[in-house]
Amino acid sequence: MKEKLEQIKNEALSVLKDNLPVDELEKIRVEFLGKKGKLTSILREMGKLSQEDRPKMGALANSVRSEIEQVLENKFEEAEVILQNAKLKEEVIDVTMPGKLTSMGKLHPLTQVIDQISDIFIGMGFEIAEGPEVEFDHYNFEALNIPKDHPARDTQDTFYVNDNIVLRSQTSPVQIRVMEKTQPPIRIISPGRVYRSDAVDATHSPVFHQIEGLVVDKGITMADLKGTLEEFVKSLYGPEAKIRFRPHHFPFTEPSAEVDVSCFVCGGKGCSVCKGEGWIEILGAGMVHPTVLQNCGIDPEVYSGFAFGVGAERISMGKFTIDDMRQFYDNDIKFLQQF
Ligand code: PHE
Repeated sequence: MKEKLEQIKNEALSVLKDNLPVDELEKIRVEFLGKKGKLTSILREMGKLSQEDRPKMGALANSVRSEIEQVLENKFEEAEVILQNAKLKEEVIDVTMPGKLTSMGKLHPLTQVIDQISDIFIGMGFEIAEGPEVEFDHYNFEALNIPKDHPARDTQDTFYVNDNIVLRSQTSPVQIRVMEKTQPPIRIISPGRVYRSDAVDATHSPVFHQIEGLVVDKGITMADLKGTLEEFVKSLYGPEAKIRFRPHHFPFTEPSAEVDVSCFVCGGKGCSVCKGEGWIEILGAGMVHPTVLQNCGIDPEVYSGFAFGVGAERISMGKFTIDDMRQFYDNDIKFLQQF
């Protein structure tokens, strides 16, 4: 039996050559150490041995088993290393290859301008107020001193949900909503989307954006309006920017003005952007009409205020020299990526 064990050991060691793959090694393991393997079948014959020889043979068999196991284990480890090296060689990373770019989104040129304008007014102590885009005729027109038969309704023709509900044609109804709820002092701006039944062209869109401003307090005058707007254009266009008021009419302000800024391209000399004028119209403004204050339960004998409305598209077109308003809404990535 001793010889047989020695023989098995030698046989096993001789087949366990270098560089055998894992599956070959596994076959050898089963062949010698498996349940029906060579070593196991020898051990079954132990019963035939004398009492005396049995422990000796047992010890020898165990040492043969552990020797084969040890060698097998080493070979398995070597095989793993070989396998891993082969894999690494296959998966070599070429660090000089160009990477995959993830494209970053950015804010729309209108959003950028609305955010910038909002920040300027927040810096002056204004708060943001919001109102619904689907609005009561009362807030969009009536309370703003524009009764049903008023000619101003023509220039602000909008989309009617029914006789009393419209898509707001301006952000001015937010003034009314705020004044109804709050007693002065009031200092708000209200950016948002507005609607008019205008045909689409390079400077008109049935959907566009305004930023409304409203200040109501004791002793507010046109000088406060002018100072605030001057501060605003200097923040937006730089310290050289000037403003000019032209008389105008809005039903909800008295007096009213259209406000121009000195051309931010030529500085007022006249160029293609300002069409030789030196000035560019940017907003409508005025002192809140006493009737409007009264409509909202604010005593016009005690309080006065000013309001203004800025067109976000117009500001953005000027800032980024965009010549066609339709491009804002086309969702053309090539266009939007430029800003
Ligand atoms: N809501 C006016 C418009 O859309 C602009 C405006 C706002 C004028 C506030 C005066 C005061 O034309």
